[in-house]
Amino acid sequence: MSARKRVGVLISGRGSNLQALIDACAKADFPAEIVTVISNRPDAYGLERARSAGIPAAVVDHKSYRSREDFDAALHALLEEADVELICNAGFMRLLTEGFTQAWRDCQLNIHPSLLPAFRGLHPHERALEAGVRITGATVHFVRHEMDAGPIILQAAVPVLAGDTAETLAARVLEAEHLIYPRALALVASGRVWVDGEIVRFASDKLALPVFLSAEQDNASASKDLSEEASKISDLLRGKAIKHVSRHRVGEIVIEFDDGTRLFVNVDSSDLDFSITGGEIDN
Ligand code: GAR
Repeated sequence: MSARKRVGVLISGRGSNLQALIDACAKADFPAEIVTVISNRPDAYGLERARSAGIPAAVVDHKSYRSREDFDAALHALLEEADVELICNAGFMRLLTEGFTQAWRDCQLNIHPSLLPAFRGLHPHERALEAGVRITGATVHFVRHEMDAGPIILQAAVPVLAGDTAETLAARVLEAEHLIYPRALALVASGRVWVDGEIVRFASDKLALPVFLSAEQDNASASKDLSEEASKISDLLRGKAIKHVSRHRVGEIVIEFDDGTRLFVNVDSSDLDFSITGGEIDN
């Protein structure tokens, strides 16, 4: 395997996305390793997560700097010192200067809990509920100077359910975040995506597939094999026997049942995982 890309993760708080990246990097064939975690808040819980994983963690407290430029310069110096090649913003809630974002152009990723370009900035879930959208989600993108903007790498769609509050919606979107951030990092670190005129291009179509999180989906279903997932769907359909499973087109398979009904299913088939993520019955 070629050398793993050296990643610096920037955080401001809880660090659950950091944890998802730490867990992914623990796999032997993952193309990236986290070499430093930096928080702009001394009390960020993510610092504990880094330390428990044996990753050097540092605080660059924005309150100790007179200007954004000074803060960014300190951050930049630490990242350079750690020989970082890629940066992942994981709940990092500071606006970065144009100089910093230019210095790390196409080498810095961010995750945001909405389907960008909708609901940039703070309180995206409250705003999604206020707007009455039926689907929201999460986006991993390359960082540009504007807040929560830049070429989109991966997105996951999450349905808004009746009775959702900002908290319940945020919790389901967070599951989606933990699914797509490691994938996006793997794609970038292995050179299978690149930016072309502010659009992200993929080495193959299947890598670009969006992820659809169904209302009931749990993370455990992510890496089961196709037949196991298909039989689960069969159970959901009160034990209909499956006659045939075939590929319909990129990102979709069709399951034919003994009674002649067919189920078209969206599949996430990036080469990291293969799982059934949704579908509809065609009688
Ligand atoms: C995540 O939901 C992340 O998408 C969001 O902050 C949360 C951090 O949680 N980031 C943004 O809103 C960036 N604009 P975490 O610390 O548990 O990863």
